[in-house]
Amino acid sequence: MKAFVVVLTVICNVVAEFKGDTVHWIWTCNLNEERCEKSAASPVGAEGSSVYTSPTVCRLTCGKYGALWPQPTIATALTHQLVEVHPDNFFFELEYQQVDFNDFLEANKKIFIQNLRKECGGDCSLQTNTKVTIYITITNPDLTLNLYTNESYTLEILTRADFVSVKIYADNAFGARHALETLSQLVASYSTPERRVGLVMVAGARIHDKPVYVHRGLLLDSARNFVSLSSIKRQIDGMAASKMNVLHWHLTDTQSFPFESRSVPQMARYGAYSSDMTYSVEDVEEVVGYGKVRGVRVLLEVDAPAHAGSGWQWGVQEGLGKLAVCVDKQPWRKFCIQPPCGQLNPINPNVYVVLGNLYSELMQISKESDMFHMGGDEVFIPCWNSSLEIRDYLIAQGKSQLLTEDFLDLWSHFQKTVLKTFDERTGRDASIVLWSSKLTTPDVITKYLPKDRYIIQTWVPASDTLPSDLLNLGYRLIISTKDAWYLDHGFWGNTRYHDWRTAYDNLLPNDRGVLGGEACMWGEYVDGGGLDLKIWPRAAAAAERLWSNPTSNAGKAEIRFYRHRERLIARGIKADAVSPRWCYQNEGECV
Ligand SMILES: *[C@@H]1O[C@H](CO)[C@@H](O)[C@H](O)[C@H]1NC(C)=O
Ligand SMILES: *[C@@H]1O[C@H](CO)[C@@H](O)[C@H](O)[C@H]1NC(C)=O
Repeated sequence: MKAFVVVLTVICNVVAEFKGDTVHWIWTCNLNEERCEKSAASPVGAEGSSVYTSPTVCRLTCGKYGALWPQPTIATALTHQLVEVHPDNFFFELEYQQVDFNDFLEANKKIFIQNLRKECGGDCSLQTNTKVTIYITITNPDLTLNLYTNESYTLEILTRADFVSVKIYADNAFGARHALETLSQLVASYSTPERRVGLVMVAGARIHDKPVYVHRGLLLDSARNFVSLSSIKRQIDGMAASKMNVLHWHLTDTQSFPFESRSVPQMARYGAYSSDMTYSVEDVEEVVGYGKVRGVRVLLEVDAPAHAGSGWQWGVQEGLGKLAVCVDKQPWRKFCIQPPCGQLNPINPNVYVVLGNLYSELMQISKESDMFHMGGDEVFIPCWNSSLEIRDYLIAQGKSQLLTEDFLDLWSHFQKTVLKTFDERTGRDASIVLWSSKLTTPDVITKYLPKDRYIIQTWVPASDTLPSDLLNLGYRLIISTKDAWYLDHGFWGNTRYHDWRTAYDNLLPNDRGVLGGEACMWGEYVDGGGLDLKIWPRAAAAAERLWSNPTSNAGKAEIRFYRHRERLIARGIKADAVSPRWCYQNEGECV
């Protein structure tokens, strides 16, 4: 108990030393309402409860989930005591002999300590002798990160005098990573009147946690606008802080093709915005590696057959025929949904050779991935129908009426052929993700797409029955609810901005076939500058829905959400403001 008493004395001293200044505020936890209450003087009737000089420190142990985001799912118990800690006084021990401290765990030790330093603004000037030892027990040395990775963990904190022991149990290192993330959220900084900054940690805790959904993603579009590697990494930092585990990298689109393929260098040569707006193989590997250390796998997407113009223009002059049709064609509204137009030519065999090269290269980069995204959205029939070559092909096949159905068959022929190419070239039976489209409507999907091979990413409004229809047919889904998780909405056309509450309250269909979901940051109106603001903290609201799927709504989560937003800011992510600061300091008054 000694350590706790010390902490409280320190904090009370701070209060006392503040005299002479303007009014100072204190916070106490209202245990019944689970919120920190602000007052100007010693609160009446608060005997036995602790007094804090900041809402952040009060929040650590106030309410069942304290400051944790997302909230743990199996069991959470936090004591109200705090203990002073310092980043220099954390030590790590690996308990299970069969598993070594591998690069993954070494990197995560560093990230954890860095996150603690960031919590005190980089300058943890208040020292303490308290020693914190983190004992990690993992039984499975496998470091493969995929859909089947067991992410569960248990975390216990026990404090005796000035010795704190933290015990982490997990199946594997990725679960241990989540435990360290949780531990870092049990720490907060406070400052003294002399502007010295220290850290306090929850002195006793027992948490048992695992995610509800295995796929908790964020889509990043680096084709409409180029996004630098450092901006991509920053989003991964935000994801790791929120326990999201899939970066869906929409690598290419009709506007640009920034991937510098080694086997098909023409793609970026023709398709990149400029020679410095490209991703080399090493760049993509770097992102995959950066993500992996943070428990985030990268799902690569090459959109096809639509959304493909830039990068595909060189076929004719190199003797390979037209790889894409109606490229840059005007007036664009007649040939595509968004300029510049362009759609792959499904009757040119060389298209499959090029795609096969790209698939092979990308799957080598994401060596462990058991998923690949082939796009497949918004095929625009008038584009294919404007090509004499394609029309002649269909007519020669006896499809002289050129019906919509004939074009759907052509599209499915494309999809079958790319799947075969993928299998031949990569030798991996990865699940293929496709956007919902005319090929995935419930009445035709079983004809075109085998459900054991394809995962459908639906992008319809919450009211649409498509997800439940597809689930009834036995398909596995990733859900990107258009009117909740499309982060680009509200910045173009007549779309509406969906605030974090809408994102949080977005319930997914209750079905085993739902793998999870993704918040989508389409890139037409955003690049490095505004990326953080548009994604964060809203994506974190989706993150708690996907990790915890709580029965309660955003109102109940609000105070923890405000705290998590502060955490993201401390970690260098320029998360948008979601309320006046007054609401952060006056918990529960703005719900
Ligand atoms: C995940 O790991 C935990 C801890 O080792 C174990 O109890 C649990 O059964 C595992 N879950 C699955 C689905 O294997
Ligand atoms: C394709 O174009 C022809 C005219 O060239 C038209 O008769 C046909 O209806 C079109 N098909 C579709 C599906 O739009």
